[in-house]
Amino acid sequence: MDNISHLIDLNDFSPSQWNTIVSLAHEIMSAPMVYAGACRGKIMGTLFYEPSTRTQMSFQTAMLRLGGGIIGFDNPSTSSVAKGENLKDTTKIVSGYSDILVMRHPLEGASKAAALTADCPVINAGDGGHLHPTQTLTDLLTLREEKGRLNDLTVGFCGDLKNGRTVHSLLKALSCFEGNKFILVSTQELKVPTYIKDYISASGKTYEEYTSLEDVMPMLDVLYMTRIQRERFSSPEEYEKQKHVYCLDTKKMKLGKPELIVMHPLPRVDEIAVEVDDDPRAMYFRQANYGMYVRMALILCMLDYRLESKPLLSGKIMNEVCCTNPKCITHTEKYLPHSFRKNGDVLECEYCDERILI
Ligand code: NCD
Repeated sequence: MDNISHLIDLNDFSPSQWNTIVSLAHEIMSAPMVYAGACRGKIMGTLFYEPSTRTQMSFQTAMLRLGGGIIGFDNPSTSSVAKGENLKDTTKIVSGYSDILVMRHPLEGASKAAALTADCPVINAGDGGHLHPTQTLTDLLTLREEKGRLNDLTVGFCGDLKNGRTVHSLLKALSCFEGNKFILVSTQELKVPTYIKDYISASGKTYEEYTSLEDVMPMLDVLYMTRIQRERFSSPEEYEKQKHVYCLDTKKMKLGKPELIVMHPLPRVDEIAVEVDDDPRAMYFRQANYGMYVRMALILCMLDYRLESKPLLSGKIMNEVCCTNPKCITHTEKYLPHSFRKNGDVLECEYCDERILI
């Protein structure tokens, strides 16, 4: 439906709208009881087609703390999805039962596809390796609370920068603030996708690519560690080659500034040694806690229609053209209109941002 505002890509909202959400989260943290009944009578549906601990539970807790109710599934095999129901029908039905829908799906562009038929606002809680806007709101709140600013930061990203959707969303968001600089640490195979690098450059910010974490530690104000995303590799052998490459330990922490903060969207596998948890610069557990407050603020803003997003599809419908990303939702949900933005010689899929040369 056209008149509903959805959260699919954080950059569909303006930075001043992000500020509204993050500031409200700060207010909620300081006086949570004031908001205890703010969503009484409202229902949130959570459709989790992929595993989750923090995102799903922080959304659920957020709604419960606001006095609302929750329905949904965290395992599609116990829903009608197991009988072959398509995304469109599941979304149509559950959005009719709910006031707001939260969706996580392994395919890229799935939340946008769902929003096309939903009768209530849809929040993207992660679509494959593509985007994860509510983790980014969590990260922005963490930076505001712990660094006091969102600008003039040298931010290092380390790990699986190709498949890490939290990395993609955060890079896009931090590109909107003056003076930020990005240090991208990964293996050759797991570099940040080109479309994100182009986004950084187009916004006038700079990035540098490295393979050694030790080398960059002294430069950083913020280090954003990520796990290698095993489930997104095409074969177990490919994953085996990439795992255990980076590990932040106390020895490397000694190279960091005293005011450095270490963030991680979690779950951690082995990329941060447990010994680092006791370092006061380790911020990841506190970061996860901020996630609940920022989701309370987001739910309130979305249910109050305080946010206005861009239209879901604004490009050209070209059903004869197929997206070349095998993980794009358009390959499994065949009824979806194939919609592309034209950018010079390139068509950009409006679901997954894949670029196709014409
Ligand atoms: C992240 C995700 O699901 O993308 N986790 C999260 O939401 N906090 C990161 C990850 O799975 O590695």
